[in-house]
Amino acid sequence: MDAVRIGLIGLGGIATRSHLPSLASLPEVVVQAGAEINQVQAERTQRRFGIPRIYSSYQEMIRKEMLDGVYVCLPNFLHYEATLAALAQGLHVYCEKPMGLSSEQALALVTEADRRGLVLMAGYNYHFDARFRRARRLLEERRIGKILQVQGTIAKPGPYIGWDPKSDWYFDQRSGGLLYDLGSHLLDLLLYLTDIDIDVGSIYATARTSLPGLPIPDNIVAIFKDYNKVVGSLNLAWGARANLIMIQIHGTAGSIIVSEEYFEHRTAYGGGISRLATLFDNMRAILKQRWNAIIRRQPSDTTYLDASRNFIDAIRGKSSLRTNAQHSIRIHRVLEAIRDYLGQDSSTEEH
Ligand SMILES: NC(=O)c1ccc[n+]([C@@H]2O[C@H](COP(=O)([O-])OP(=O)(O)OC[C@H]3O[C@@H](n4cnc5c(N)ncnc54)[C@H](O)[C@@H]3O)[C@@H](O)[C@H]2O)c1
Repeated sequence: MDAVRIGLIGLGGIATRSHLPSLASLPEVVVQAGAEINQVQAERTQRRFGIPRIYSSYQEMIRKEMLDGVYVCLPNFLHYEATLAALAQGLHVYCEKPMGLSSEQALALVTEADRRGLVLMAGYNYHFDARFRRARRLLEERRIGKILQVQGTIAKPGPYIGWDPKSDWYFDQRSGGLLYDLGSHLLDLLLYLTDIDIDVGSIYATARTSLPGLPIPDNIVAIFKDYNKVVGSLNLAWGARANLIMIQIHGTAGSIIVSEEYFEHRTAYGGGISRLATLFDNMRAILKQRWNAIIRRQPSDTTYLDASRNFIDAIRGKSSLRTNAQHSIRIHRVLEAIRDYLGQDSSTEEH
């Protein structure tokens, strides 16, 4: 097969930090064009990555260019229309998370891609993280017995410090705020790891807004039950100093505690020896990661590269997708229930 011709829609933070460098290292890919409404950002990115053609309108780009696929890296509220337009043009799509902003939109996109036989991938890159994959393998082997409880936390500085988004959509209510930003990632991970089927009728949630004047909550906690009686919680924070994604899964025969930088399979057996082994294992993994980053100059986070490789291989018919677009529909049903619950909760106010 000839080179896979890619266009990027939106040339902001995630496109320039992660997708363009990843695509540049895949020899079978040609980045042929980009679309960006901010002219300064467009020109800067074109110079830096040597993109042949830049458009201010993505509609024009997908009409005029002979592309195989696009990356949709726009503010959340534009994902649906841009992804649908690209699919309608016969293009494969890598859509940054969340895939649309409702279960209806996610379903419509999955249906359209299936109908046209196109690859549609939602950008849930944590599926490609070695520690989360290891957790999934253990869970598939039922190594912690029957799951009793799951807890998920993402606590990050958010758009306040260090993220450097190229536009201010993160605070725009139309994009769903923290809930759709980090909440979608966290739910995706929980569904990917455990396959729980959350009963949306069981959801309770509460939230606060720490910055005066912010139109959306920046700290959210939700609890739920699934149809097999697993109980669980989601904890989301913007404005935190930690850079933490942590999942705990507790079962009748053990627990898994996993984050981007830590992995532990805790059982009733092994005691001190098992703790020591966990310590060494984690230390070795972190040292290897740092060694690769400093000496071999490999990015310390390879999940975006692995996700892109999977997308391109799927376009070439060499492998199937390792993220499941159907998950997006389930993710949205839960997000909608939390959003609706918070909408009725009068304690969600500024502090
Ligand atoms: N998977 C991840 O870990 C991850 C991390 C960060 C961001 N994201 C996702 O990536 C998306 C973009 O986030 P970001 O941080 O890059 O934001 P950003 O603001 O830095 O980039 C968005 C870009 O889109 C441009 N844009 C807006 N409207 C446009 C239009 N109509 N046509 C063309 N360009 C337009 C903006 O000018 C901006 O440059 C979001 O959906 C976000 O959820 C995912």
